[in-house]
Amino acid sequence: MSDDHAHYRDELIAAARHAAEAAYAPYSDFHVGAALLFEDGEIVTGGNVENASYGLSLCAETVAVSKAMAGGRRGGLVAVAVTGPGEDPITPCGRCRQILNEIAALGGTDPLVLCVGPHAVREVHLSDLLPMAFGPASLD
Ligand code: THU
Repeated sequence: MSDDHAHYRDELIAAARHAAEAAYAPYSDFHVGAALLFEDGEIVTGGNVENASYGLSLCAETVAVSKAMAGGRRGGLVAVAVTGPGEDPITPCGRCRQILNEIAALGGTDPLVLCVGPHAVREVHLSDLLPMAFGPASLD
């Protein structure tokens, strides 16, 4: 995260934790929250949304990206925070890495992903979670 956005860090982490409280995860009981920070300071959140047909469940990051894009966002993604219920920080699943890459690539950013646990935060760039990504430019 650039110095410009560093002061949003605590707010972003709190937003992810808050989003996990609204997760709909009655089947796994694994409540995940995600929060996306955009260049203008706006934060968009999501929690996982499960389904009685288990395989249809949506991850928190996917819900957050969908909300952001439904609101007109096309890039400008600076940072992402994700948090789960365990003792260790979780990282976004493979599908969510690809979903995050789409909105990041549209604005040419490489967002910092904050993997938020109860005691520690692991920071990694999306490009390190998803090297050699297939993205919008791959179709040119
Ligand atoms: N889950 C997420 O929401 N994000 C991830 O990155 C990993 C997994 C959700 C999916 C499912 O509802 C629950 O966590 C257990 O896998």
